[in-house]
Amino acid sequence: MKLLCAGAELINDSSRGFELEGEKLFAVRRGGQVYVYFNRCPHRGVSLEWHPDQFLDNSQSLIQCATHGALFLIEDGECIAGPCEGRSLKNIPCREDEQGIWVSL
Ligand code: FES
Repeated sequence: MKLLCAGAELINDSSRGFELEGEKLFAVRRGGQVYVYFNRCPHRGVSLEWHPDQFLDNSQSLIQCATHGALFLIEDGECIAGPCEGRSLKNIPCREDEQGIWVSL
């Protein structure tokens, strides 16, 4: 597994973008739990964020694609509204320990 960042670098109800081994990813922490996905919208294959590290909607409760506004569940990446409804972001397995957040690409 690869170290993504220290746990403290991803605070609750926030998101961060990363580039690891040439892949664009992003991580969200919600309820203490970390979720990691490839940064690629299933609609057009573009990066999701409009501003760096901003992957969430105004309520901070859903992931939002900045291009056409698709909304995705943080917990499993499923698109629940928008042009790619029913499709999902590609999840990346991760775990967290005292060293930080680890992902397996
Ligand atoms: S590219 Fe993401 S909703 Fe269209």
